[in-house]
Amino acid sequence: MSMLYDKLKNYSTSGVYPFHMPGHKRTASDGLPYDIDITEIDGFDDLHEPTGCLRDLQQVAADLYRSRYAFALVNGSTVGILAAVRAMTESGGSILMARNCHLSVYHAAELCRLDTKYLYPDCADELRILGSISPEAVEKALNADPDISLVVITSPTYEGVVSDIKSISLICHRHGAKLLVDEAHGAHFAFSDRFPQSAIQCGADAAVVSLHKTLPAMTQTALLLVNKDKTAEKVKRELSVFETSSPSYVLLASIDRCLDFSKNSEKAFDDYTKRLESFYGAAGSLKRLSIAYDRLKCSDKVFDCDMSKICILCNGYMTGSELMHDLRSEFKLELEMAQGDYALAMTSVCDTDEGFERLLSALTQIDGRLKETKHQTSIGTCQPLQRLYTISEAIDKDGEKHDIYDSTGKVSREYIRVYPPGVPLIAPGEVISRDVLTQLREYEAAGNEILSDSSTFPFISIIG
Ligand SMILES: Cc1ncc(COP(=O)(O)O)c(C=O)c1O
Repeated sequence: MSMLYDKLKNYSTSGVYPFHMPGHKRTASDGLPYDIDITEIDGFDDLHEPTGCLRDLQQVAADLYRSRYAFALVNGSTVGILAAVRAMTESGGSILMARNCHLSVYHAAELCRLDTKYLYPDCADELRILGSISPEAVEKALNADPDISLVVITSPTYEGVVSDIKSISLICHRHGAKLLVDEAHGAHFAFSDRFPQSAIQCGADAAVVSLHKTLPAMTQTALLLVNKDKTAEKVKRELSVFETSSPSYVLLASIDRCLDFSKNSEKAFDDYTKRLESFYGAAGSLKRLSIAYDRLKCSDKVFDCDMSKICILCNGYMTGSELMHDLRSEFKLELEMAQGDYALAMTSVCDTDEGFERLLSALTQIDGRLKETKHQTSIGTCQPLQRLYTISEAIDKDGEKHDIYDSTGKVSREYIRVYPPGVPLIAPGEVISRDVLTQLREYEAAGNEILSDSSTFPFISIIG
């Protein structure tokens, strides 16, 4: 039974007249779920101080994910990351983060005025896909800098690459540091042993999962899972800072429904993983295109990999953006993203046999007409840049507009990122190198969009 959803549905037909927010008064009838869109009225608890139905919902989430605490989020994993980083660090302290972290981790470091130290994942062989963060790299970085109080790692990455969270959490704890895992793309891990083990099960102190990315839940729904009492107390306070004071009950009801589905999802996940296996088996006969999963699994730069992400390698025959374009325009298949040489199809337990068959058939047709390889790119590497200021110091400085391509040796005041996935290639305070500019040009040539903070790319703010 979905407790919150049913309660909202019953309330909508109870005859209670709403002299309160929201302004649509549950009367609009355009097909959107206004009937259950209420605010925190009597009997419906308070997300920031839950003692009733929302406390129960969070307990169900904690039990399902086997974490001590679970916080329901209605502003995506983004708000969970902001609150968790703030809760797990002291203002002005040091954070060790994977360089391929999502922009929200950088924003958290900026807001908390943290000194950022980076872990650089290696590329998985010649695949041009970033591999895992190695436990050895974490150990080395923590040995070099005993002031680090928090380590943040993205696992799985957009492409499904998972790090050895068990070993990394042991190392962090041995050094007195906490581990936060951005598991935004791994909300489904808890529901089948065909997927990697979830971060919270592997000993992470906290993990954020976007329900909306890989489970049947509405956009913006997520959970922040916490394993430590003190951290949970601080997280609760920080969520009241960063998260809306008017949480959407439509989204909370969606979390409720998603948890309810997941509780009894063994068969659905079993069918889903069989569907994936059969797709991978059939896709093995592609001649020019190929699927990255098996090669990622075998790479010594990759600890483990999530089979739900279908990462299609173009092997130089076309760019990932070209493949994505052809799938859209000829086959009405819209993929999640493309970067450099690959395009990524995100799947979930809600995908159908028909969906997988259509993707396979389209790839087979495109594969059959590919003839010549084009130039291979160097996209995909993660380049260390010299840093002159912390992110917050750089943002506090005055800037001047410059064409980034004439700015070798100058210091950026902006985040420069390829979207998606939105990982900054250049962060504020970093010196723009010739190599990173070459990489940006390659991304542009491969059809990727480059974003800067002021939307005037290639003109960006440079510290004078
Ligand atoms: C790795 C990663 N972390 C965090 C986020 C932010 O998640 P949300 O969209 O749920 O706020 C994203 C979004 O794409 C992401 O890819």
